[in-house]
Amino acid sequence: MANITTPQPAEERTYERFPLARRIEHLTMLLSFTTLGLTGLVQKFALSPTSQFLVSVLGGVETVRSIHHVAAIILMFGTMYHIILLGYNLYVLRMRMTMLPVFQDALDALQALLYNIGLRKSRPQMGRFTFEEKAEYWAFVWGTVVMGVTGFMMWNPITSAKFLPGEFIPAAKAAHGGEAVLAVLAIILWHMYGVHIKFFNKAMWTGKLTETEMLHEHPLELAEIKAGIPDRELDPIKIRQRQRKFFPVASILTLIMLAGIFGFINAEETALTTIPPQDDQPVEVYIRWTATPRTTSTPTAGPTLAVTPTTTSTPIVILISADITWDGNIGPLFQQNCGECHIDDDKGGLNLSTYADAMKGGGNGAVFMAGDAAKSQMIIKFESGDHTDFTLSPQDLALVKAWLDAGALEK
Ligand code: HEC
Repeated sequence: MANITTPQPAEERTYERFPLARRIEHLTMLLSFTTLGLTGLVQKFALSPTSQFLVSVLGGVETVRSIHHVAAIILMFGTMYHIILLGYNLYVLRMRMTMLPVFQDALDALQALLYNIGLRKSRPQMGRFTFEEKAEYWAFVWGTVVMGVTGFMMWNPITSAKFLPGEFIPAAKAAHGGEAVLAVLAIILWHMYGVHIKFFNKAMWTGKLTETEMLHEHPLELAEIKAGIPDRELDPIKIRQRQRKFFPVASILTLIMLAGIFGFINAEETALTTIPPQDDQPVEVYIRWTATPRTTSTPTAGPTLAVTPTTTSTPIVILISADITWDGNIGPLFQQNCGECHIDDDKGGLNLSTYADAMKGGGNGAVFMAGDAAKSQMIIKFESGDHTDFTLSPQDLALVKAWLDAGALEK
């Protein structure tokens, strides 16, 4: 129908395609997308010399990460704006959903393919948005959802792991990187070809297309414009009525989305910044108060080496006599002296029937500390005379202490 070789009388006549706000939106997304792609891919392919060069030019990986996050925040705001504007256009202005894919798009795609391989004489006649444009738009929507969800998980791994199994975090990282490559390739191939090579379309910058371009690219839309079919509600009274309903809802929705973005950015510090090491703060160290099995215990009479658990990182090695064991000495000693109250009865919560029971301790926690008699509550209790119900002879007490110092061995 459109014969573009014929000189058009309306060569100079133009039609508005994108108002200024949409062009600014596009520019914002372009900058944020490019920044994200660049700062993201150098992290994904961190070992390539090109990446290393770019990272060093940008001032190190932490800076690259921060730039990536700022660009992501801009994309989030852009998405929010887009959603609100979409609502306004559809509900208040009653614009038609020209971006929605319809069956005709599949037919158009088929016809374009047949035309390209020479089996059809004409290109498909398309409306406001061609099937290529719709495909790109929805790919961008889908990509933003995937990148947003997986990006959140990488930005807030601890929060995510509260709702999902931990394996999802590395999976999110893989998906984020994979989708990034796909998106960048889609822009380079699909967008570059469709918008810059096949036909250099400047509408996103000038906002306009000439009648010739419209006839070639969007003949059905041009026909509708010429027929006077409006693509939006024009009655100002009805528009005002709907605005009164739309604005409160949109405000609440905006607040919810702002809260979402705030949470996205601030849920935790883990990924945004590296927490500096906190040297000057006391660190709680858990020390076992039960016997530590010794790997090289040989029941010989001579002196043996035992390593005692200590709070410092370098273990203290002491020489002890290691032939005192629970089975050989201490078990029978306790059975004889303490059985009445700590075997037949669990006085003070303490049961001394077996080695394992004894090591569990009493009502106040562990009473035997392997390797350190002086810190064992049982010794402290007996030496201070606090165990009023019974006292041990000094020799027996010395034996228990030697056993504890030697590592409180079972056998
Ligand atoms: C005549 C009964 C009696 C005998 C015998 C006895 N105890 Fe006790 N033991 C108690 C009572 C009662 C308590 C709880 C009151 C207290 O903590 O002093 C206790 C508490 C303890 C505690 C403190 C438990 C805790 O977690 O607070 C230890 C340790 C202990 N006994 C060790 C021994 C040992 C070791 C022997 C044998 C050498 C022994 N007792 C013999 C009656 C006895």
